Amino acid sequence: MAEKREHWGSKFGFILAAAGSAIGLGNIWKFPYIAGENGGAAFVFIYLICIAMIGLPVLIAEILLGRTTQRNPVGAFNKLNGRPFWTMVGGIGVLAGFIILSFYSVVAGWSIGYIVEAVKGTFYNYPDAASAGEHFDALVHNAWWVIGYHGLFFILTMIVVYFGVKGGIERGSKIMMPVLFVILIILVIRGVTLEGADKGLTFLWNPDWSKITSQSVLIALGHAFFTLSLGMGAMMTYGSYLSEKDNIPAAALEIVILDTLIALLAGVAIFTAVFATAQDPAVGPGLIFRTLPVVFTKMPGGFLFAILFFLLLTLAALTSAISLLEVVVAFFVDEMNWTRHRAVLVFGFITFLLGVPSALSFNLLADYKLFDHTFFDVMDFLASNILLPVGGFFISIFVAWVWGLDRAVVELKKGAVNLFEKHAGIIRSWKWFLKYLSPVMILIVFLYSIGLIK
Ligand code: PFF
Repeated sequence: MAEKREHWGSKFGFILAAAGSAIGLGNIWKFPYIAGENGGAAFVFIYLICIAMIGLPVLIAEILLGRTTQRNPVGAFNKLNGRPFWTMVGGIGVLAGFIILSFYSVVAGWSIGYIVEAVKGTFYNYPDAASAGEHFDALVHNAWWVIGYHGLFFILTMIVVYFGVKGGIERGSKIMMPVLFVILIILVIRGVTLEGADKGLTFLWNPDWSKITSQSVLIALGHAFFTLSLGMGAMMTYGSYLSEKDNIPAAALEIVILDTLIALLAGVAIFTAVFATAQDPAVGPGLIFRTLPVVFTKMPGGFLFAILFFLLLTLAALTSAISLLEVVVAFFVDEMNWTRHRAVLVFGFITFLLGVPSALSFNLLADYKLFDHTFFDVMDFLASNILLPVGGFFISIFVAWVWGLDRAVVELKKGAVNLFEKHAGIIRSWKWFLKYLSPVMILIVFLYSIGLIK
C-alpha cells in the first residue's frame, strides 16, 4: 500500500496546498470578525502568541506524523502505537474534519451566492450597512438559496479531491493561491487609501486590554488551531504525501507566515473599510457579507472588485475544504481499502447532508437553540473550541511523551540536516514547546473554558 501512495509533485506544491488548507474562511471571514468582537489589537496580539508558541510546534508535529507513517490520522497513530486510545484520537480527527466541512461549506456557499449577486450588480446599491445587512438577511433567510449554494460548493470540493493529490489538490492550489494573494493586496491598497482608514488601523494595532476575557483567550487559541488546520489531522494527511527529502520545519514556518500574513492583510482590508464607512466592527459572522457590499458600492470599479473578491473568497474556502474532505477520504482509502472515487462520492454526500441543519440555522431552524446557540454555532464551537484543541493536546502528548521526542527528532532530521547543524536551538525550543508549553497551555485554557478552573 505504502509504495502505491500518491505524493506531491514538488515541495512548492505541498507548501501551496498546505497554505491553501490553512488560508481559508478562517483568515478572511472569521479572523476579522472575531478580532472585531474581541476588541481588535489586544486579541490579535494574543492570537499571534498562540500561533507562534503553540500553532507552529504542533504543525511541525502533525506534518511529521504524517510523513513518517505515510498514513491518514487513524492509520498514523495505529502504526506508531497501536493502542485503541490513540487510534481513537485519530478517529476524533476524522470526525472533526467531517463536522467542520459540514458547516464550513455553508459559509463558502454564501460566498458563491455573493459572486452571483455581484455579477447581477447588486453591490452597486448599498450606501449604508443597514441596507446591505437587510439584503444579506433576506438571502440567508431563504433556505433554498443557502442549501443550493452549499450543495454547489460541495460538488466543487468533491471534483478537486476526486482527481487526487497531484492532479486535483496540488494543481488546483497552484492556480488558486497566487490569484487570491494578488486580489487581497489590491483590496488592502483600496482599503488603506479610503478616507478615515486610519481608524481601522488603530483598531487593529492599538490594544484595548479591557476587552480581553478568558473567553477571548480561548477563542484565540481555538482559532490558532482552526486557521492552521491543526488538531484534526488535515496537516498530517497532507504530510503523508511528502517524501523524506523535504525540510519540515522550514515548510511549516512558511505555511505559518503565509497564513498569518493573509489573516492580517484581510484584517487591514476589512477594518479600514469598516471604519472608513463608519460601521460597527463587532457585528459577528455577517461582517464580511454586510460590510464589503457597502465598500464595493463606494469604490471605483466596485462591480469588478466585488466579483473578484467573492470569487477568491470561494477559492480560498475551496482549497481548505478539499483538505477537510481529503482527511476523510484518506481514512477510507488507507484503512478500508476503498477507492478514492468511491470515498469522495459517498462521504461528500454524507457530509453535505450533515451541513443541511447548519444551513437551516439561518432560516427554518433559527429558533431551535441548544444552550442558547443555533446548530451552526454549536457545530462551530464544538469543532473549533473543543475538538481541535483536544486533538492538538493529544498530538503534542503523543509526539512528546508516547512516541517520544528522540524518535521524532530522528525523523525530523530527514531533509533538515542543515537546520539541525546550524540552528540546534530552534529544535530544542520545538521540543520544549511541544513537551510542556503546548499541552499545559491548551489544557489550562480548555479547563478554564468549560468552567473547571476559575
Ligand atoms: N484553516 C482553514 C481556515 O482557516 O479557513 C479551516 C480548516 C481547514 C480547519 C482544514 C481545519 C482543517 F483541517
